[in-house]
Amino acid sequence: MKLKGMDLVSIRDLTVPQMNRIMDVAMEMVPIAKGKKKSKLLDGRILATLFYEPSTRTKLSFESAMMRLGGRVIGFSDPKSSSVAKGETLADTIRMADSYSDLIVLRYRHEGAARLAADFSEVPVINAGDGAGQHPTQTLLDLFTMREEMGSIKGKHIALLGDLKYGRTVHSLAEALTMFGAELSFISPEGLEMPAETIENVKKMGAEPYITTSVEDVIGDVDILYVTRIQKERFADLAEYKKVAGSFQVNIELLDKAKKSMRVMHPLPRVSEISPEVDSTPHALYFKQAFNGVPVRMALMALIMGAIE
Ligand code: NCD
Repeated sequence: MKLKGMDLVSIRDLTVPQMNRIMDVAMEMVPIAKGKKKSKLLDGRILATLFYEPSTRTKLSFESAMMRLGGRVIGFSDPKSSSVAKGETLADTIRMADSYSDLIVLRYRHEGAARLAADFSEVPVINAGDGAGQHPTQTLLDLFTMREEMGSIKGKHIALLGDLKYGRTVHSLAEALTMFGAELSFISPEGLEMPAETIENVKKMGAEPYITTSVEDVIGDVDILYVTRIQKERFADLAEYKKVAGSFQVNIELLDKAKKSMRVMHPLPRVSEISPEVDSTPHALYFKQAFNGVPVRMALMALIMGAIE
């Protein structure tokens, strides 16, 4: 059950009781995340945020979470401004961050980078996205948002729509939702299907995902429609991207076919896959979801740093 000192590289590093514990602590963190209550829980601690790929929410919410708990932050968001530009390897950069901080949050363009960093670091490493691999802290805030919205996840129908091939958020999320007993649908344009490895993993854990290219197939039955962006930056050939760009959109006409209680989530940033007119409907949950990154990351850091048992 203890999280103290652990690395978080894949969502499979956590058990369901550990995920529930993080979410319970996150509930208590909400007033601190909103700035309504003060805390010194992580006073004197230093977080290193090493972002080799663009980020808005993940980086800022980790930093806000650390500062709201009285800790401090060092790091970079543009590796060109660090010695990476001089040719320093990831391993050496990690060794340095390890000796200057108490916790490292890493985003890197290659799958497996966070695992490598964890091997080189004494202090815990949290994976904030490794290429098309995993994004476990996004998953924790997604689960927290779903639990808050629906009370429980077990037996709920959750459809993942979009770039399921390159989208790391959906890889972690599909595995976690299976652990929580959700019913899954995977909807993607042709060529961007969920990787065979993830499908195998969830099947081994007992899920039987429904796989389709058409959101219309399931829209009337889903409880949460989790939409993702087509990951343009991961395409080797831009012509391939252009073939699928704009191939699906969540809009008012589609929502007319959904249950009233159906909620739309998105890890953000969105491009064109959710029409802005959806924002003002009761279906839109994505901005609240983005806020939840702060309390969830507070809880995770406090538990990993051992400030809370
Ligand atoms: C996601 C990511 O970086 O994987 N963003 C995020 O962390 N909220 C999703 C994306 O970039 O599409």
